[in-house]
Amino acid sequence: MIDLMKLAEKLVNEHSLTTEEYRILIDGMTPELQAYLRLEADKVRRRVYGNKVFVRGLIEVSNICKNDCYYCGIRRSNDMCSRYRLSGNDILDCCEQGFEAGFRTFVLQGGENAFFCDDVICGIIKKIKSKYPECAVTISLGERPFQSYKKMFDAGADRYLLRHEAVNGDLYARLHPPRQKLENRLDCLNDLKKIGFQTGCGFMVGAPFQTSTHIAEDLKFIENFKPEMCGIGPFIPHKNTEFRDFSKGDTNLTCFLLSIVRIILPSVLLPATTALGTACDGGREQGILSGANVVMPNLSPLGVREKYELYDNKLTTGSESAGNLNELKTQMENIGYKVVCERGDFADFKI
Ligand code: 5AD
Repeated sequence: MIDLMKLAEKLVNEHSLTTEEYRILIDGMTPELQAYLRLEADKVRRRVYGNKVFVRGLIEVSNICKNDCYYCGIRRSNDMCSRYRLSGNDILDCCEQGFEAGFRTFVLQGGENAFFCDDVICGIIKKIKSKYPECAVTISLGERPFQSYKKMFDAGADRYLLRHEAVNGDLYARLHPPRQKLENRLDCLNDLKKIGFQTGCGFMVGAPFQTSTHIAEDLKFIENFKPEMCGIGPFIPHKNTEFRDFSKGDTNLTCFLLSIVRIILPSVLLPATTALGTACDGGREQGILSGANVVMPNLSPLGVREKYELYDNKLTTGSESAGNLNELKTQMENIGYKVVCERGDFADFKI
């Protein structure tokens, strides 16, 4: 019989396992193993970042999307979705409110659409950076050509989030229509890194058809790719997608994976995602306790928040809202962590 504890110790000492070893660890998850890896994840996180929790103001710039990811509530073929996009001025207003509240990173996230072409998005990035030179700008607008990423970087964008979703080709193909290619997704991630972005990949836990082997492959990919950021949250079904009848991902397993990723990459910026907070009560706190060190409250205008519905019942109120930063601060203090008003760059990153 394989000694799971030995495997966990190997992970802690070497920050690396084989794909098969990751699979065994995932399949062997027990409360004891979880407690051990959570403790070790907390130790490494404290070594790199202390007890700091970085906050990002999330601005959902548009839910118009040309893609048709089968799991996503804002996919093109969801006719029930009421579409919107923010203007440059709307986005700047969000930044102003966010800056006053203490945010020093703004994340501009949206569906893939022609409106935010290079000129438009670069104009917005430049305005934000000239008004708030001490702030970081993160972009999350999907797959684009190398030159487009380069222009955004040259305009001042610091970070880019593009979840890889699944590194296994078969699983990727079951989650996306044929015209969306895994190869292109991975090329984009490599381009982003090459250009110099702090780059984020990631995946959903418990996506339809996902097995522990798939997750193990994702962990191996993360180990090799060494992203500066990594978004991992449970899959949550959306009523207007064909995945509506699948069950949501396991939040316990999500937290276990957060611990593992923290141990693989000690300095990774790891959010306790909104999906984790939505999937179970206190999910976000559990995420932080498991090794996450980032929270991304919603800074979008109130009128559009419920329209950016990636999955059912997405949290937008309470401490999920950037307007309630004090509530978040208290929540984090109650579990021994401190929300800080800093850019919160990747620790090994030279700027
Ligand atoms: N459940 C959980 N996460 C989702 N995302 C999209 N749809 C869902 C869903 N139904 C995630 C994807 C995407 C990110 C913006 O949101 O991983 O990359």
